[in-house]
Amino acid sequence: MEPLLTTAIPGLPPPRRGKVREVYDLGDSVLIVATDRLSAFDVVLPTGIPDKGRILNQMSAFWFERLGHVCPNHVLTTDDDAIAAKIGVKDPHLAGRCTLARKADTVPIECVARAYLTGSLYKEYVRSGNSLHGLLMPLGLRDGDRLPAPLFTPATKAAEGHDENISFQQVVDRVGRTTADLLRDWTITLFSHAAKHAAACGLILADTKFEFGWSDGELIWIDEALTPDSSRYWEASQWRPGGPQPSFDKQFVRDYLETLDWNKQAPGPTLPDDVVQRTRAKYVEAFERITGRTFV
Ligand SMILES: Nc1ncnc2c1ncn2[C@@H]1O[C@H](COP(=O)(O)OP(=O)(O)OP(=O)(O)O)[C@@H](O)[C@H]1O
Ligand SMILES: [Mg+2]
Repeated sequence: MEPLLTTAIPGLPPPRRGKVREVYDLGDSVLIVATDRLSAFDVVLPTGIPDKGRILNQMSAFWFERLGHVCPNHVLTTDDDAIAAKIGVKDPHLAGRCTLARKADTVPIECVARAYLTGSLYKEYVRSGNSLHGLLMPLGLRDGDRLPAPLFTPATKAAEGHDENISFQQVVDRVGRTTADLLRDWTITLFSHAAKHAAACGLILADTKFEFGWSDGELIWIDEALTPDSSRYWEASQWRPGGPQPSFDKQFVRDYLETLDWNKQAPGPTLPDDVVQRTRAKYVEAFERITGRTFV
């Protein structure tokens, strides 16, 4: 099927559009539809990856279910028939890519867990001598090395541009001690369970980002769960600390984009079909290795 880049569900008010997902407000709940949009360097590209939204929605559903013992989450159902009955529309284009979820007020903090020194964290380590977020780290770590223990590195959800890292104390100042402790403990516990499972699948979960929200007075885990969009997965057998690691899912896209004379500002370039197909195959592979199921 053609990639699904945007949705408009008859009878529902227009959705709130994120970079990848569209959120329909149903009053008491939200319908989250994962499209096939792909972003690179924070720019949504004009070319979609067929089935990406279905893969990410089903991977999230897998993790929400598997980690349901750690904390409550927003999932009400991902069953297409139940969702069709709820919205009064049955559209094959939506199949497999929808989650009906508890509507939540988003906690304005990106809850990030990191187990490897990479990206902006590596830059912080080099800049600071050898400390990260005020914690002393071993000397001599290389780009891509594993940290002694996973770190909670919260950031603010910036409306414009890149998120800004904040300290744990700044989280406490924003949401209070009790909530801040829960955000940190859930983030680290969810991450640790997921990293263990990923390792058993031959994948390194280098880092991930969670979102939480308030629903009926209860703090719950919302948004997406440990997808390649919200996480860095690496092929364990190809892990070579000492430089940037290849991205499990987006490396073909990045390699292609680096061959172009593109300034990394919107609008982004279209992708050739072989890059699209190879990228789709990586998403399918991630899904199948993590869930142990065949993608259909
Ligand atoms: N249960 C929920 N209730 C209300 N809003 C939710 C819920 N779950 C997720 N959301 C919101 O839905 C949106 C999902 O869209 P998407 O992830 O594509 O957008 P984005 O956040 O702009 O992109 P990015 O994740 O790259 O920052 C997010 O704004 C997220 O906070
Ligand atoms: Mg998001």
